Amino acid sequence: MRIAIAGATGRVGVPAVEIARARGHDVVALTRSDGVDLVTGAGADAALGGVDVVIDVTHHETRSTRRSVDFFTAVTTTLLDAEVRAGVRHHIALSIVGIDGQSSGYYAGKLAQEAAVQAGPVPWTLLRATQFHEFAGQIWEVASVGPVHLAPRMRTQPVAAREVASHLVDLAEGRPRGRARDLAGPHEESLVA
Ligand SMILES: NC(=O)c1ccc[n+]([C@@H]2O[C@H](COP(=O)([O-])OP(=O)(O)OC[C@H]3O[C@@H](n4cnc5c(N)ncnc54)[C@H](OP(=O)(O)O)[C@@H]3O)[C@@H](O)[C@H]2O)c1
Repeated sequence: MRIAIAGATGRVGVPAVEIARARGHDVVALTRSDGVDLVTGAGADAALGGVDVVIDVTHHETRSTRRSVDFFTAVTTTLLDAEVRAGVRHHIALSIVGIDGQSSGYYAGKLAQEAAVQAGPVPWTLLRATQFHEFAGQIWEVASVGPVHLAPRMRTQPVAAREVASHLVDLAEGRPRGRARDLAGPHEESLVA
């Protein structure tokens, strides 16, 4: 199977590429360093030739509602339009558990992405996963005021990015299934120590 991975250089993308290749798939990494920009659309048509399935694990780090909605809408539109032209038969997107009702910030972009996938012309699978183990480090980086680092008071059930990647490749090997069962780690934890 020929699988294209958008976000192939990221936390989930890197293991997804490795796992899909180890299982014998022909993997196309859609990366900006290879001339594929999914916001502008540059290089997308050429890269999707002969592709059966696209896995989208792109990400843009922002807390701005507008930037997040613009990014995820642009990437999804670029991919779905190019997929139709290339005859891709399955689009898979990774989203986040528990984002229903979020109308602002990063999560608003993820909901816009989900809506675009669900309304789109390509048969789809949407997987929602809980936060990765790396999420605590991401929050440490972005949520700080001077020397003070802030942690949101939230429950989390972290999952390994590699586990998510492996699950996405499983889904790519199957038929489009709409909303897949949510994926969560084994233990419930608090982000605040
Ligand atoms: N972090 C969590 O706890 C968590 C939990 C559940 C779901 N998720 C979802 O998992 C997905 C992947 O997250 P991640 O942490 O693996 O992301 P990441 O490590 O930040 O990787 C982001 C990827 O997106 C690519 N990208 C960004 N802008 C692009 C553009 N214009 N054109 C093409 N590629 C572009 C980057 O490529 P470059 O190399 O070109 O920068 C990179 O490969 C996200 O959609 C996120 O919402 C995350």
